[in-house]
Amino acid sequence: MQNNNKNEPVGSEERIALLKDQVAGNGLISRRHLLGLSLAGAGGLVTSSVLAADAGMLPRPAWSMAPGRDPSEYGSPSSHAQIKRLAPAPNAISPGTGASRTPLHLLQGTITPNSLHFERHHAGVPDIDPAQHRLVLHGMVRQPLEFSYEDLLAYPMVSRVYFLECSGNSGANSAGASASDNSAGGLHGLLSCAEWTGVRLSTLLDEAGVAPGASWITATGADAASLGRSVPLDKALRDVIIALYQNGEPIRPEQGYPMRMFVPGWEGNVSVKWLTQIKLTDGPANFRDETSRYTELLPDGKSLQFTYPMGVKSVITSPSGQMTLTRRGLHEVTGLAWSGSGSIRRVEISADGGRTWADALIDADQRELALTRFRLPWLWEGAEAVLQSRATDSAGNVQPSRAAWVAQYSPANRYHYNGIQSWAVSAQGEVKNVYA
Ligand code: MTE
Repeated sequence: MQNNNKNEPVGSEERIALLKDQVAGNGLISRRHLLGLSLAGAGGLVTSSVLAADAGMLPRPAWSMAPGRDPSEYGSPSSHAQIKRLAPAPNAISPGTGASRTPLHLLQGTITPNSLHFERHHAGVPDIDPAQHRLVLHGMVRQPLEFSYEDLLAYPMVSRVYFLECSGNSGANSAGASASDNSAGGLHGLLSCAEWTGVRLSTLLDEAGVAPGASWITATGADAASLGRSVPLDKALRDVIIALYQNGEPIRPEQGYPMRMFVPGWEGNVSVKWLTQIKLTDGPANFRDETSRYTELLPDGKSLQFTYPMGVKSVITSPSGQMTLTRRGLHEVTGLAWSGSGSIRRVEISADGGRTWADALIDADQRELALTRFRLPWLWEGAEAVLQSRATDSAGNVQPSRAAWVAQYSPANRYHYNGIQSWAVSAQGEVKNVYA
């Protein structure tokens, strides 16, 4: 049953049945409908077509008539589903410097394919020969150690699914009087999630022996930026890994091949790529990237330093910026939520700009410090709407409104933005980023 005239209001028994389960203003329908309960024959409110004839009567397409291509050594996406990172033009002044974003609005689930993991490089991607690369562990240790890539491969490993978010992510939404017209990936795509496999840093520190008085580690990359960051020793011992694999294959050059320090839940900048040196110290090093950058400017002109965990946050990825709803009827509102302080406990959705809220269905297997997908059915009948999501984490932190976030900082601050995202839907179905 297709609703062929998209300008006709949806009027049917199914609609009336669905609206009985409306849980918040402007057509949000109970998540019960996503739990295997009947959608009250809601097919007519989606797009299904009634089968005209028996399935056996379908004409055989060309690809069913002859063998396809041979197996290949390394797979690639279908030519009909070419999804790309959102990458700017190369930086002419400072070659290799810049970022590409994950197209969050084109993906489903929570794992980012390696080819679409966002990138942020301060001096490009070095082409490292693993046979020549070394990791040195020194400073306040009983026994300084040097590891080759081969050495590290021999250590016991762990695999964990973690998000990675640049602290500059979503910064565009912190600025200006009006919101920039952009997609969910364009605004929030300095965010990805992968299964990282590697050696616990605590295993290597055990072997080196932490000397009395050591309370920090400082880590440096082998790229031309020599990016360095300081991490308190208790975090280093708790869950930091030297990541060697990303979603099962050797970590990609863009993500730090042959090895990166992965610091779960904390701003992406501390996860030093192309890791070559870890030094134990009794204080932070105050590297460039923890003084002149990656600090949050406050209204009084002072800066917050070492605000490591990423705040609780969510974003609706569909419907989202620059999409157009081409039909009226039932839609799924879906998106991603995450927190650097634990797991996601709750995501609420509003379709009326925050006047009323309903609980979304969130993944049953929520993981700590990983992306969580949420969903809620929405009956859109052509009225204007403002879609928002608000996440709460296991530590009880609630995602702030944009206004509450902005009030905490100087107008110049772009780091650690986690305000609520608002997508306005026009009567024509066009979806746009707005400040609500
Ligand atoms: N490590 C080194 N050595 N050099 C870099 O430029 N960029 C940092 C961090 N680690 C960077 C680095 C920043 S700002 C971020 S957000 C993350 O790596 C990005 O990781 P990704 O490119 O794997 O997404």
